[in-house]
Amino acid sequence: MLRLYADANATVPPHPEAVEAVRRAMVEDWANPTSTHREGQRARYKLEEARREIAAALGVAPGELVFCASATEALHLLLRGLRPALGDRPAAVFPGEHSACLNPLRDWSRVAWLPEVPEDCATVVQMAANNETGILYAMPQVPGALRVKDCAQAWGKVPVDLSDCDAAVFSGHKMGGPRGAALLWMRSGLPWEAVMEGPQERRRRGGTEDLPAILGLAAAVRYLTERQSLNASLVTLRDALEAEILGWNRGIEVIGKDRPRLPNTTALLVRGRNGEAVQAALDLAGFAVSTGSACHSGAVKPSHAITTLGYSLDDARSVVRLSLLPDARPAEVDALAAALQRLT
Ligand SMILES: Cc1ncc(COP(=O)(O)O)c(C=O)c1O
Repeated sequence: MLRLYADANATVPPHPEAVEAVRRAMVEDWANPTSTHREGQRARYKLEEARREIAAALGVAPGELVFCASATEALHLLLRGLRPALGDRPAAVFPGEHSACLNPLRDWSRVAWLPEVPEDCATVVQMAANNETGILYAMPQVPGALRVKDCAQAWGKVPVDLSDCDAAVFSGHKMGGPRGAALLWMRSGLPWEAVMEGPQERRRRGGTEDLPAILGLAAAVRYLTERQSLNASLVTLRDALEAEILGWNRGIEVIGKDRPRLPNTTALLVRGRNGEAVQAALDLAGFAVSTGSACHSGAVKPSHAITTLGYSLDDARSVVRLSLLPDARPAEVDALAAALQRLT
């Protein structure tokens, strides 16, 4: 039976070169990069080589990159670490941010929701691409405010520009790296305090670095340009799928249809249908899709990313998210459309 994985925004399979790099590192580079003996030094060399390589791909200085285990962790380190350094000044935050970003903001005494920007705003937090709708967002420029960008969904799907921000986070497992490697980038000189103390990562993130995962991430980054162009070419397939669905005239809506979006993502609002029921039926029929971000599935609360756009709670419960892998084939997407037509 055909099985199509159309949940790329939750995670993607690691690139074969990333798998091989992890395997090799677990056999050859298992030493602790903090150790001073020869094995440790070799591990340290590999770690710094990976940092240089990834930094070059992002166009940043290697010393500005901190390896973390996930974008969630990177956001916690970043936002919790900025808070004491910036005092009680407020953050202006995009309301559709991922919970990984909203949770650490609970420490902040004042948070305003963009487009509102308080006068003494300390930092602006804006995701580059929304995980559920794929909508791309520009970074608001507020004089005197630090600009934080969540690139977890954008990386590997669309070009990422770091010239309009001061700090950013990246998730390895969403762009072909293994789970367990992610990045926090902070422009040097940022007022920030470490919240997870330890000697590693220049005292910015304590804990022994997961070298195999990091080397896997570096391997995936070598294929970043290829991945991005494969993703870019998905737009034709994705748009054809949307045209087909809209052509049924069943009142299904594509959220963010006329806005700049990730090329692989379609958020369908199937009014009158429960998104979870549609997802379960599609799963049985051979198609892995989502009702929102994977981090939210299982939770009863409808997605705030959808209600933020002005949709009702009922609407938010009726969303089915399709997010294609870069190598999706037309025949598979046709089959997905046929299944959707049958099941909605
Ligand atoms: C926009 C966004 N930010 C952050 C995260 C968290 O990423 P990670 O799984 O690496 O913790 C996700 C995960 O879905 C995401 O979509």
